[in-house]
Amino acid sequence: MKMGENKPWYNDQLRHYDLEFGQIPRLHYTDPKIDELIQQNKPVVILGSDIVKSAKNRWTPEYLEENLGNSGHTVFLSKGHKFKYYDESKILSRTNSHGVEFTPPTKKIRMKIGDFMKKLREWKPGQDRLYLQQPLNNTVGPSLVQDFVNFNWDYITKKQTKHQWGPLTSNLLLISQEGNVTPCHFDEQQNFFAQLHGFKRCILFPPSDFECLYPHPVYHPHDRQSMVDFDKPDYEKFPNFKRANGCETVVEPGDVLYIPIYWWHHVESLMEGGTTVSVNFWYKSGTTNLGYPLRDYQKVSITRNLEKMLVEVLQDPKEVGPLLRSMILGRYTE
Ligand code: FUM
Ligand code: FE
Repeated sequence: MKMGENKPWYNDQLRHYDLEFGQIPRLHYTDPKIDELIQQNKPVVILGSDIVKSAKNRWTPEYLEENLGNSGHTVFLSKGHKFKYYDESKILSRTNSHGVEFTPPTKKIRMKIGDFMKKLREWKPGQDRLYLQQPLNNTVGPSLVQDFVNFNWDYITKKQTKHQWGPLTSNLLLISQEGNVTPCHFDEQQNFFAQLHGFKRCILFPPSDFECLYPHPVYHPHDRQSMVDFDKPDYEKFPNFKRANGCETVVEPGDVLYIPIYWWHHVESLMEGGTTVSVNFWYKSGTTNLGYPLRDYQKVSITRNLEKMLVEVLQDPKEVGPLLRSMILGRYTE
């Protein structure tokens, strides 16, 4: 990645990976190409808009500590820099005999914002890292609610309508310690990812890179997450990872990155860049845009549905591979 000299961050704040990445287009919010890209389900960074102006550089760690509200918030703790998401409902437990035996890589706790910020201020290498991930709901303080109401909902809603997305499902507030990484995964919703404070590097891959990124099986708690460890890729197990077609950008306060539905994304708060603050806007996919030929992400969705159905009816994940092999080998492999 080539960085201009006048960027407010340095190359050595970026983690190093074994892949080369293209650049995600960064366009002024008035540029008509933005709608073309969204229509094609391609990522774009929207620059210079007032979408989150009421929070840009205002939602600092100090302001959030004062105004987020005093009920507890969801915080993940990790021994390393990676915070790999897992679905608790897929873990084997006393109440879930279908689940998978699994040791969560992070610990999920409730914490008051004051305690969280204190821990960040006093953090020393070797201690657990922290990442607060809290949906914005009616527990947040009145000042934050006012800022939220003052987002440019008109602009966002026009995009939602124009591109026939479904309803807004949630806004997730993310307060991250510097250097934290959300490893590569995809979500099943459209996402406007707004950066408010600090800098995050976002690396995206298209849905057609399914074969390069090796998602965990659907029944696994790490469903939708890549099995490839970007820090130490196992090329014997995951040879196609070399062919992944990533593109990247570094978002800064006020930038809004469109992460299209089913696009893979890896997100890292820059190293030695201080605490970062972001807000996600998640939208359901629309139902009206089912046309032919199918889009790549629709094929991923079909694959997932078939896989889920087979896991359910065969009642043993180990039977899925042999059944699919006998169905395709020598018949659909010519
Ligand atoms: O760490 C992050 O900001 C992740 C965001 C996402 O997965 O949408
Ligand atoms: Fe995500």
